[in-house]
Amino acid sequence: MTTALAHPNIALVKYWGKQDKAGNMPATPNLSITLSELSTVTTIGDSDRFQFQLNGEPVDDPKVSALIAAMTENFNLPPLRIDSTNNFPTSAGLASSAAGFAALVTAVDAHCKLGMNPALRSEWARRGSASAARSICGGFVALVPPDWQAQSLAPAQHWPLEVVVAITRQEAKDVSSTEGMERSRITSPFYNQWLRSAGDDYAEASAAITERDFEKLAAIAELSCLKMHSLMLTSRPTLSYWTPASVACMDRVRELRSQGEAVFFTVDAGPQIKAVCLPESRAAVAKALADVPGVLEILCSPLGEGARIIND
Ligand code: DP6
Repeated sequence: MTTALAHPNIALVKYWGKQDKAGNMPATPNLSITLSELSTVTTIGDSDRFQFQLNGEPVDDPKVSALIAAMTENFNLPPLRIDSTNNFPTSAGLASSAAGFAALVTAVDAHCKLGMNPALRSEWARRGSASAARSICGGFVALVPPDWQAQSLAPAQHWPLEVVVAITRQEAKDVSSTEGMERSRITSPFYNQWLRSAGDDYAEASAAITERDFEKLAAIAELSCLKMHSLMLTSRPTLSYWTPASVACMDRVRELRSQGEAVFFTVDAGPQIKAVCLPESRAAVAKALADVPGVLEILCSPLGEGARIIND
């Protein structure tokens, strides 16, 4: 048996839309931070047939089956039993699939002695879910052309940002990211403008990280997030992942910033708000978001490491 652990990552320059070819490659460069306090732990063992359990329940997940089928064909793998557990809500906009596929590929690689380097693990994780490519690395992570294998921009220690997550709904989302981004690609009148501006957003965010310029990162990360949600809202039919509490949290973050706290928000394909802040602002941000009506729970996390084996 082999056990791997991976953390979710939160994109600061978003991926929303794929290239029109095989390999599950994003259409635009994107960039994320990896969180240390949320994790997926995946154990792989030999079996007489393929079996997948998520949080203790047998699950038929077509994306997991497809990835394992592709890896089996490519590497001649034996049948495997896979047990995966998340310590946070699944499919609720907390990047559970990112942590899940990064842990899965890392565990399969070690268990079956495939000898992959991190770039190759990232490529296989990307085939499962493109954001998972980034969870192979820790700290600040880029997923860019031409290879679309994640690379570390800077380790977590480079800039000890903290993330406060406000949970406003626990249930799994109705429309998956995969389906939602395809709908936006085909129907949003703003999609071409999104493609055109993503390179500049990526360059600005990566420079802000190198320079540890919080104000610059805040401005570009919020813009990238709101552009992505504009694509969602202008898709036909519309995609609206927010709750009233999500909107109230975004207002509260702006208010905190105007009062001098170093904080900005980002939101993925779900109703949770991720407030990214400097360590000195974390307590004030967590308290303020906990007091917003409709916020069910607050999770806090510093930045974390990439996917790794924790037991063999
Ligand atoms: C909103 O990586 O879940 O979180 O590649 O189809 O599995 P697939 O999509 P997925 O999409 C993530 C979208 C996002 C933004 C991001 O993480 O960059």
